[in-house]
Amino acid sequence: MSDNNFYITTPIYYPSGKPHMGHAYSSIIADVFARFKKLEEFEVMFLTGTDEHGLKIQREAEKNSKNPKEFCDEISVKFKNLTKTLNLSNNDFIRTTEKRHYKAVNDIWERLIKSNDIYLSKYTGWYSVSDEAYYDDDEIETINNIKCAKSSGSKVEWVEEESFFFKLSSWQKKLLNFYNENPKFILPNSRRNEVIEFVKRGLKDLSVSRTSFTWGIPVPKNSKHVIYVWLDALTNYLSALNFPDVKDNKYTKFWPASLHVIGKDILRFHAIYWPAFLMAANIPCPKRVYGHGWILSDEKKMSKSRGNILDPIEIINKYGVDQLRYYLIKEVSLGNDGNVSLDSLKNCINNDLANNFGNLCQRVFSFVSKNCNSEIPPCNKFYKEDELILNNLIKKIPYLQNSMNNQDINIYIKEVINFSFDGNKYFNDLQPWALKKNNLERMNSVIYTILNQIRSISILLSPIIPQSSNKILNILNINDKDRTIKKILDIKFLKSGSKIKKTDILFKKVEDDN
Ligand code: MSP
Repeated sequence: MSDNNFYITTPIYYPSGKPHMGHAYSSIIADVFARFKKLEEFEVMFLTGTDEHGLKIQREAEKNSKNPKEFCDEISVKFKNLTKTLNLSNNDFIRTTEKRHYKAVNDIWERLIKSNDIYLSKYTGWYSVSDEAYYDDDEIETINNIKCAKSSGSKVEWVEEESFFFKLSSWQKKLLNFYNENPKFILPNSRRNEVIEFVKRGLKDLSVSRTSFTWGIPVPKNSKHVIYVWLDALTNYLSALNFPDVKDNKYTKFWPASLHVIGKDILRFHAIYWPAFLMAANIPCPKRVYGHGWILSDEKKMSKSRGNILDPIEIINKYGVDQLRYYLIKEVSLGNDGNVSLDSLKNCINNDLANNFGNLCQRVFSFVSKNCNSEIPPCNKFYKEDELILNNLIKKIPYLQNSMNNQDINIYIKEVINFSFDGNKYFNDLQPWALKKNNLERMNSVIYTILNQIRSISILLSPIIPQSSNKILNILNINDKDRTIKKILDIKFLKSGSKIKKTDILFKKVEDDN
């Protein structure tokens, strides 16, 4: 993969119920990184989709008296629609019931057979349908007479059936070496340590097929078995690049993936099973897996079974998509769990968007329309205060890039919103309305400077609040191709004399009873 391509993925979601805030969160995070790489002028492939096989889906379909495919068709479309509602920039949406995916999974299976990593035996042990995961005795506890997985709290059931196994045990050393040689493969570091500890304790071979139900991809040449849904699902990241055609342009450009964004609940699958499968199949491993924390509601993980779900669509309809995106990115610390609530959402919208950045744009644009004939004023030179604010932003660009490229998104957003505080302060301190009376030249350089500050902030915020940033950059007549990090460095980029467009309210303040 050349250095100028970036391939990013979200988990593919189970279409077992309608999408909730947790799903929206993973997708928004991935979208922010995808959009940021575009600002850095990378060619970006951004994939999301739905994970449609397995017992969880089969049972959910039965509960709804539907056949599984029909059931998935209905719910998958809701996830696809959510990509639009969230304003995601994904360029593909994969479903594991698609033909292209079957092809890829079959090929992986054949590779694992060929490399002698798969054998036939019998699985006897615990299985959680909700997690689609096998658990050992020491990973189980009994609560109210029900056996549950300790990590997720999901109910487990006893399984005894013929099964193909993947020789995961034989990959322990190679995995540890791989983590060692690629210290940023698993981020954040706390998760990396968890995984390494787990692998060091020893790995058992993994059951990779089931015989007690049929909703899955049949094992080649033994259709009594369906392939374990996680081996099936993980392969989606390759299917979307037209794998097994390894000469295909998409595959050569974008594999290995740059970043799999996932929730911490599915770290084991992505950071242990996935690289082991790939190494065994002789396919390069992805560069990075980032395991973000959970969105909590009332301090608990949001999930269908707990019934504490916040509906992203309702919130977007009421408060706006950028408002939700901004809130989730700003207020939840990416690597950790974070509680969300309507009150903190409203505070965040008011403090950061309406009163800070929105206010800055609004007052500057209205000043320009009243006092500068709606034109970007000329700027013969920058004064000391102008240089200070402009350089302060420029100087931080490498730091911001580094933060984003290490998924330190909270640092990034904090710095960027500070630029807006700086902007408001600069505008208050320099009082262009007073300069208008006796120093037009100075007034012009102040306005030019502050418009440039708004341009830079809008570009920097565009991965997080794309709709509003675009609106502002349109007001300033900035072409799409000029909305890049590189162009921020050009502080004389704005064209004096060019008209700025009319504005309506950018971020409405949320009232208490709203
Ligand atoms: N289908 C598997 C993933 C296969 S990827 C090859 C799956 N699907 S899921 O629908 O159950 O959840 C997918 C992801 O949604 C989680 O990993 C996580 O990223 C996100 N979230 C679901 N609930 C969440 C929260 N309450 N909080 C944050 N994200 C959570 O697992």
